[in-house]
Amino acid sequence: RSNVSWDTLTLDVDDDGVATLTVNRPDKLNALNAETLEAMLEALDEAEAQDVRVLVVTGAGDKGFIAGADIGHMQELSTPEAQEYAELGHRVCDAIESFPAPVIAAVNGYAFGGGCEVALACDLRVASERAVIGQPEIDLGIVPGWGGTQRLSRLIGDERARRLVFFGDRIDASDAYEYGLVGEVVAHDQLEDHVAEMAKELAEKPKHAMQVAKESLNMVHEEPQNAGLAFERRAWSSLFGTHDQREGMSAFLDKRDPEFE
Ligand code: CAA
Repeated sequence: RSNVSWDTLTLDVDDDGVATLTVNRPDKLNALNAETLEAMLEALDEAEAQDVRVLVVTGAGDKGFIAGADIGHMQELSTPEAQEYAELGHRVCDAIESFPAPVIAAVNGYAFGGGCEVALACDLRVASERAVIGQPEIDLGIVPGWGGTQRLSRLIGDERARRLVFFGDRIDASDAYEYGLVGEVVAHDQLEDHVAEMAKELAEKPKHAMQVAKESLNMVHEEPQNAGLAFERRAWSSLFGTHDQREGMSAFLDKRDPEFE
């Protein structure tokens, strides 16, 4: 069990290997300034170093998740400065996407712009009934800049992504569910427990197989299908001979619960 804190971020790791990364800047609705993004990169490295099994990403305070990139910081940026900020946001989203264990976004409130993009980089999204989600950048005279145009379209389809990005609409949790933007909606006061249960269940699964599953599923977005299929074949075969493969299959045949490494 450990706890590491930055000025605007905390990382808690429990005994089950579940880490929770909480953006903690509630007076600005957890808007992500450069300092917070840098801290997120450090927190992701720390979680990986601690070999966590599942990572939960969430935001502090009553209103929630992450209200986007920091508009105060962005207002006066030049193109080269904006490029640097975009790269930092992309590094965070890429690090979440390639994190070697499942990452769950517990969307407990506003998830706009960069906040929606952080959620999109996670493996799974669970929303509270109070969540409101969108890519409202168009009304700031910009467009999604931390992967939103790409990951949103892949997740929910081109027509719906265009609607969200063009109109800048902010949709509630039930519409987000309908769009396929979140996998599940739960009562606000049950979100934390529900996600904790999910995380615990995933943390008990065989670690190496879970990592290979995530890598293979990520290939859908990285490679043409023939390359993805070749990757899956190699990844699948590489699991044979591992303790967890032998144990999982023996346990099935012996009609008992498996004991994974
Ligand atoms: N950046 C900086 N500050 C923000 C912020 C953001 N994205 N979102 C909220 N805040 C700040 C507000 O300025 C306010 O600060 P002060 O108290 O110092 O004035 C504080 O958080 C509380 O916000 P509100 O008073 O506005 O709270 P509300 O409950 O009335 O409204 C809200 C909440 C609907 C989320 C509203 O704050 C809002 O619309 N925020 C902006 C959302 C947005 O446009 N996000 C996209 C940003 S662009 C982006 O992310 C680009 C990208 O692709 C990377």
